[in-house]
Amino acid sequence: MRISNNFELGKLMTFELSKEIPIHNWFWYKEGYAPGIVDYAIHDSQMSAPKTILDPFCGVGTTLLAAKSKKIDSIGIDASSLASFISRTKTNDYAPEHLQLLEAFLTKMSNLRELGDDVLRKVPWEFELFDPRAAFPRRNYNDLLTLRLAIEQETDDSVRDLLLLALLSVIPQSSIILKDGGVLKIDRSKRAMPAKEIFRRKLKNMIKDLKENSASGVVGHCPQVFVGDARALDLMTETIDLVVTSPPYLNNIDYSKIYGLELSLLSMSKSEAEQVRMRALRSFIGKKMKVDGMPPEVGEIGFRIPIIGTYFRDMEAAMYEMHRTLVHGGTAYVVVSNSVIHQTHVLVDEVLGEIGERIGFSDCEIIVGAERIADVKPQKVKTRESIVKLRK
Ligand SMILES: C[S@@+](CC[C@H](N)C(=O)[O-])C[C@H]1O[C@@H](n2cnc3c(N)ncnc32)[C@H](O)[C@@H]1O
Repeated sequence: MRISNNFELGKLMTFELSKEIPIHNWFWYKEGYAPGIVDYAIHDSQMSAPKTILDPFCGVGTTLLAAKSKKIDSIGIDASSLASFISRTKTNDYAPEHLQLLEAFLTKMSNLRELGDDVLRKVPWEFELFDPRAAFPRRNYNDLLTLRLAIEQETDDSVRDLLLLALLSVIPQSSIILKDGGVLKIDRSKRAMPAKEIFRRKLKNMIKDLKENSASGVVGHCPQVFVGDARALDLMTETIDLVVTSPPYLNNIDYSKIYGLELSLLSMSKSEAEQVRMRALRSFIGKKMKVDGMPPEVGEIGFRIPIIGTYFRDMEAAMYEMHRTLVHGGTAYVVVSNSVIHQTHVLVDEVLGEIGERIGFSDCEIIVGAERIADVKPQKVKTRESIVKLRK
């Protein structure tokens, strides 16, 4: 297995650049990457025109949006109904009538009657970790729910989706919640921004982006986006030219919790988070941790620290699916990070490369994009983020 460095890739492995790119920046997803990763993969694979790109951990649709802008078909799957909703809404085509209806909503909004507490109390916004009322100043909580109910009245599905996305995207700024590592914390000293005002601003920006998009002819090649499980894809064998993806990192966050407020306002159901968790990779503590049939490449550490065993077990299943669905000569680019757990440095990229070789990928390479220092007291450990490149 070859290991090489390409530190130009480091800046593409985080969401920082996406925050500045129209449409990519509609929903802030810290765990996402930049569309340049897809450009790199297409160029590096030497496939001048891949027909179909797959992202089995599609998040908020970075790969899919990048594929669409190059007029390439793509398929995205995510365990989270929130992530797949955002991906689909960001990558759909919209007609001028949709934009007119969005503009009409902006006008209607000004006359929206504020609903009284008695009405709002009957609206079941239930979140499994705490009462959402605790997450917002009272005014913002009321405005968010009033807008949610008004959006529900819109009869056009596409317009409703766009409005909902705008609403979900303002939750972090309008709340007094801090996303701190893997947990949500209520921070009473945080200044929440006025929900209605930032929703209005967001919607105006989205309308502007959509106008520019259609003026530059980015239409068609809308991806197929599904809620699903990367470990068991409902896709035909040998139909994918290129996989570009980034699975949850080992010992990372529980997406169903950290984006739980957004998920619950989208689904208006407390149980949705549990469904997301059932489908999710066992990459964080809290899921059932029985180590069942661990890949041999992991070694004894997978038994000693069960989360490591279950993570690689699940990643092995996802890699089998990538291998099955790729055409011969197709390549998978998998963005991962090495981890330090209980003072143990886990070389995730190398283990995945070895698993890849065993399950039939002929050519495995690790391209290191960034090195970071993990402060795991009492020591400091140099870890890295890389692309595991697997050719079938
Ligand atoms: C690192 S994020 C991907 C971010 C994406 N590259 C982007 O730019 O938005 C990993 C995603 O994997 C999803 N996920 C976790 N377990 C999954 C599974 N078993 N199948 C499919 N998706 C899963 C999470 O919900 C999360 O959205």
